[in-house]
Amino acid sequence: MDHFLYRDGILHAEDVSIPEVAAAVGTPFYLYSTATLTRHYQVVSDALEGMPHLICYAMKANSNQAVIKLLGDLGAGMDVVSGGEYHRARAAGIPGEKIVFSGVGKTVAEMELALTGGIRQFNIESEPEMLTLSKVAQKLGVTAPITIRVNPDVDAKTHAKIATGKSENKFGIPISKAREAYAQASQLPGLKVVGIDVHIGSQLTDLEPYKHAFLKVAALTEILRADGHEITRLDLGGGLGIPYERSNEAPPLPFDYGRVISETVGHLGCEIEVEPGRLIAGNAGILVTSVIYRKEGEGRDFLILDAAMNDLIRPSMYDAHHDIVPVREPVPGADQAPVDLVGPVCESGDTFAKQRLMPPIGAGELVAFRSAGAYGAVMSSEYNSRPLIPEVLVNRDQFAVVRARPTFDEMISRDTIPEWMR
Ligand code: LLP
Repeated sequence: MDHFLYRDGILHAEDVSIPEVAAAVGTPFYLYSTATLTRHYQVVSDALEGMPHLICYAMKANSNQAVIKLLGDLGAGMDVVSGGEYHRARAAGIPGEKIVFSGVGKTVAEMELALTGGIRQFNIESEPEMLTLSKVAQKLGVTAPITIRVNPDVDAKTHAKIATGKSENKFGIPISKAREAYAQASQLPGLKVVGIDVHIGSQLTDLEPYKHAFLKVAALTEILRADGHEITRLDLGGGLGIPYERSNEAPPLPFDYGRVISETVGHLGCEIEVEPGRLIAGNAGILVTSVIYRKEGEGRDFLILDAAMNDLIRPSMYDAHHDIVPVREPVPGADQAPVDLVGPVCESGDTFAKQRLMPPIGAGELVAFRSAGAYGAVMSSEYNSRPLIPEVLVNRDQFAVVRARPTFDEMISRDTIPEWMR
């Protein structure tokens, strides 16, 4: 459930009307709903009830500090994958003890940052990384808590670009080599093994791959404990899918995901960590854009929007579907006709949807992309020298700009002309 509904014929986010925000901040913009973010966090928490757990929100999905603070205030920890994310999390008030550090290529500088600033655990992805962390921790005179991310060789049955749990993917240490890796870790100074980590992919719409992977992790837990390792924590990653096409998609419910967790690893007495990103932020956000032109092409009409692939890359990158709805509610039974919804960027890949059935919409009207709260703003760029678009947070009848639209000057002032050209 979310809080984007038509009221008096106009799309609202909670109690705020979308045209009101558009008039205040201009289009395009991202907009997030506090009530929806809160609800999604709560649903995940409820699904894990009865098991000691920490929800480490994967902030790569949406790392606006207002979003992080909101989730942090609800009790969330964070899953970070870069020094930049670590900085954002800390700046938003997340204590180091609630931050897990994931990613295949952690640098020495990132390790130092986290070890001095406070960290719950590093999820180690390779032997060279383990050796480096051991050296960095020794140099700083501290102990680094670690899990090892195992690659369970499970097919997550999702888009190839976001599947991570097969042996051909770059992630984790093959589960077949886990015993050796743990034996090595336990011998290295400066490291303390605390658990096991696994993440098999994103936008999973089937629970079977989870079951498969978690059973392998459960078996590994027993083996490692028999080898003398203290396994007190299981980080089970994120990845549960969300409905993008509301009319015909019903991914598994968080409650059923929680049941899979409890049935596969619940008996081990471990603290459970999960790293949901999309599940929390995806359907808590929309992208609002205006139609610049309606153009009649050969055999097809185009709606040319003021948002483009640089603002929301998912359709061009993954052929992802986003529901696109008019902000003015269509009259019931209004004729629908197929249109291509495109942006103004100079490549054909700047297409959001082809031959999508839409009610009659003309220039100047607002449309909203649903499910844009995750992997939207964070993946945007300034391609075609289009400034990053603002982000707005709604809370009941209030809204605030939580990232302002940069001016052209702010955007171009980061470039400098070398002395010798002046
Ligand atoms: N944990 C780890 C280690 C991850 O790599 C990811 C996502 C997550 C958690 C969170 O997964 P989620 O719950 O959000 O599915 N840009 C792509 C998605 C990339 C996901 C990368 N890793 C998209 O727009 O679909």
